[in-house]
Amino acid sequence: MSALPLRLGVNIDHVATVRNARGGAYPDPVRAALLAVEAGADGITAHLREDRRHIRDADMAALAQRLTVPLNFEMAATDEMVALALALKPHAACLVPEKREERTTEGGLDLVGGRDHLKPRITALRRAGIRVSLFVEPEPAVMEAAHALGAPVVELHTGSYCEAVLAGDEAAVAHELSRIVRAAGHGAGLGLEIHAGHGLTLDSVGAVAKIHEIRELNIGHALIADAIFSGLPQAVRDMRSAMDSART
Ligand code: PXP
Repeated sequence: MSALPLRLGVNIDHVATVRNARGGAYPDPVRAALLAVEAGADGITAHLREDRRHIRDADMAALAQRLTVPLNFEMAATDEMVALALALKPHAACLVPEKREERTTEGGLDLVGGRDHLKPRITALRRAGIRVSLFVEPEPAVMEAAHALGAPVVELHTGSYCEAVLAGDEAAVAHELSRIVRAAGHGAGLGLEIHAGHGLTLDSVGAVAKIHEIRELNIGHALIADAIFSGLPQAVRDMRSAMDSART
């Protein structure tokens, strides 16, 4: 049996991080999103955080208006974000836990303790035709909870696996990967669509991409980081040439 295609969702948050470092409008994350699509991204993900540390409201509006591929609105499960998503009507909303003090999303949603506040928000988004995914730890019990909450999609948190790859800890890599494989199989068996992401790099993506139940990967930080290495030589050549042609 051949595997179903695996979609790539490109997360452009860190283009906005670089922009915001200078407080201006450059580089524009929407331009980066359009380039990513031209290069083969199947969708674009952007996380509008409560503190607006990278993506801003105007970025979300521009993405919703200009993208020709699905927009995945990553958001905390709050009234403010649900209202924004209902107004914007993105293709998808990925609900994540959010803490002000964290550098990035640190763990999956607490589907057991958070059940009461998640359910009405999932329902409201789904009624508006927005595909809801829950960012969760790769555990079979969590797949059951996501299914019971009525979410059609889960995104498995690959952070622990990726940390094990970075640390070169083979036993931990095997353990974390087996958690992802087991959760993906269990979730797909329940009828959930399975996505995965967080911390994936060129070194860690292959083993996750091999898991047939996984239909989409969302990747951001490593792509923007790798763009420095693959793009910096051309950027320097372009600047050199602009300087040189001004002098001649
Ligand atoms: N998926 C979710 C739910 C996330 O919160 C993030 C980080 O914003 C990603 C995927 C992408 O992670 P990374 O930027 O490490 O590739």
